[in-house]
Amino acid sequence: MLIKLVRHYARPYLPYVLAVVVLQLASTIAALYLPSLNAQIIDEGVSRGDTDYIWNTGAVMLGVSFVQVATAIAGVYFGSKAAMAVGRDLRRGVFHKVAGFSAREVNEFGAPSLITRGTNDVQQVQMLVLMGLNFMVAAPIMCVGGIIMAVREDLQLSWLVWVSVPALFVVVGFLVWKLMPLFRTMQTKIDGINGVLREQITGIRVVRAFVREPYEASRFDKSNRELTDVSLAVGSLFVLMFPAIGMILHLATAAVLWFGGLRVDAGQMQVGALTAFLQYLLQILVAVMMGTFMAMMIPRAAVCAERIGEVLKAVPSIHEPERPTVPAEAAGAVEFRNVSFAYPGAEAPVLSNVSFTARPGQTTAIVGSTGSGKSTLVSMLPRLFDAGSGEVLLDGVPVTELAREEITRRVAIVPQRPYLFSGTIAHNLRFGDPDAADEELRDALAVAQADFVLEQEHGLESRVSQGGTNVSGGQRQRLCIARALVAKPKVYLFDDSFSALDVATDARLRAALKTRTKDATVIIVAQRVATIRDADQILVMEHGQIVDRGTHEELLETSPTYQEIVESQIAAEEVA
Ligand SMILES: Nc1ncnc2c1ncn2[C@@H]1O[C@H](COP(=O)(O)OP(=O)(O)OP(=O)(O)O)[C@@H](O)[C@H]1O
Ligand SMILES: [Mg+2]
Repeated sequence: MLIKLVRHYARPYLPYVLAVVVLQLASTIAALYLPSLNAQIIDEGVSRGDTDYIWNTGAVMLGVSFVQVATAIAGVYFGSKAAMAVGRDLRRGVFHKVAGFSAREVNEFGAPSLITRGTNDVQQVQMLVLMGLNFMVAAPIMCVGGIIMAVREDLQLSWLVWVSVPALFVVVGFLVWKLMPLFRTMQTKIDGINGVLREQITGIRVVRAFVREPYEASRFDKSNRELTDVSLAVGSLFVLMFPAIGMILHLATAAVLWFGGLRVDAGQMQVGALTAFLQYLLQILVAVMMGTFMAMMIPRAAVCAERIGEVLKAVPSIHEPERPTVPAEAAGAVEFRNVSFAYPGAEAPVLSNVSFTARPGQTTAIVGSTGSGKSTLVSMLPRLFDAGSGEVLLDGVPVTELAREEITRRVAIVPQRPYLFSGTIAHNLRFGDPDAADEELRDALAVAQADFVLEQEHGLESRVSQGGTNVSGGQRQRLCIARALVAKPKVYLFDDSFSALDVATDARLRAALKTRTKDATVIIVAQRVATIRDADQILVMEHGQIVDRGTHEELLETSPTYQEIVESQIAAEEVA
């Protein structure tokens, strides 16, 4: 998955990658050349006392160093550019994929995990690409080139290379192998922390109201401790790694000096060759170390890539038709035909065999006890969920065959749990129609009885915080109604949208709405009988079925369930 992902996302940046390869190549070759120049100065210049030779070779050395530094810097620059671009594209990919998810997929992954996957996981992959570009070319060339150069300097000492390199390899490899499973655990622990933190922040009011801080704090502590434990385990392996590497490097240095010194004493080797050999050995070991560091990042990045891949591969359960049907007319007629539906994982259906028609110019009201399936029913029209069996038709065409755009243009929903986005009031209202003039927004606010906005200091430009938490529940509800009005749809779905309003405002709002929605299909889910008594048809729901239907007067005669609802409200009014 990691390879597939990186290959796919790095392709557009191939020129950068090639530049990095060339630059790293140049820089590594230059680095390999330096010790041998150094040896020449010592063995030929210094020993012969040839000052000219020293100066000339010194100048060459300076030039080579310059090339090495310049190409290394340029290589890192282009490498970073490519790696960051890959990260950006990957994040974008995840974001757009998640935006196409229906409630079902979000539930499956869990919102916190989706957030980690889009941020931290992408960062790990991006980091690996960066390291890969910096080391992948340099490390092997440095290693192989170093060995060749070292052997050329002195064949007799080369056994030191064959001993120290495998030793380093084994030590670092063992630690990497130990680290791998820990990294996998680490990513899930980060998910856990994200989850607890997110729930606490969004639920902060409830936490305060019920004095749940100690409990929440302990829950967070638990997640935090788990992450700390894993991180500590990782850290303790790292702690081992650096001394282990250091020890091998120093032992190798000591061995070179010891055995090399013996050879110099015996006149079998020159001092310059000895220093060059030492430098080459160190270069080789550093290259091996870089390689293993890379290797160490691979498992973690692989875990992350897999998690990202899961998101990218997920097939949204609700997808657009490939060849959408365009309905002949756009009146907004709604029909449910034998619709049944069960939530994923649930056994009992929430809706069974629901059939009804809602015509343009009419108001259809839905009443029923809580949990009877009203919100579920309403959410099928904008395809928040698809029917398990049966059909939901809009203007005679099943919604599954309509383009998403076509549906959103015709249907506006005021959800039971109103949600506003961070930004200004105007920004929120223009969701339905980005080109709406300020005048239209004011008009919609007036109809929705949300004029309070205009009395605020900044009017339409007043700030709304994420979720709309800086306005009251009732205000939020009315703003959501205004948002639906601005869209000027053919079908209005009001899911319990008048519940937070006092009786007088409710009445005024409905009177104003009536003229606005004269030609549209209006579907109202409501608790209060007063809200729906004028509706053209009332559907009474119970346990996911429509048990009775008719007008207020008809139902009062025929429907015991409806009578019960009415009676309970009259009794409540009397109490009041
Ligand atoms: N996302 C979900 N996943 C699983 N089950 C759900 C989900 N949403 C609702 N349900 C279940 O479906 C049933 C109907 O829920 P629904 O929200 O449609 O009721 P409702 O009639 O709108 O109630 P209310 O009057 O309280 O708004 C409930 O029993 C509920 O437990
Ligand atoms: Mg509901």
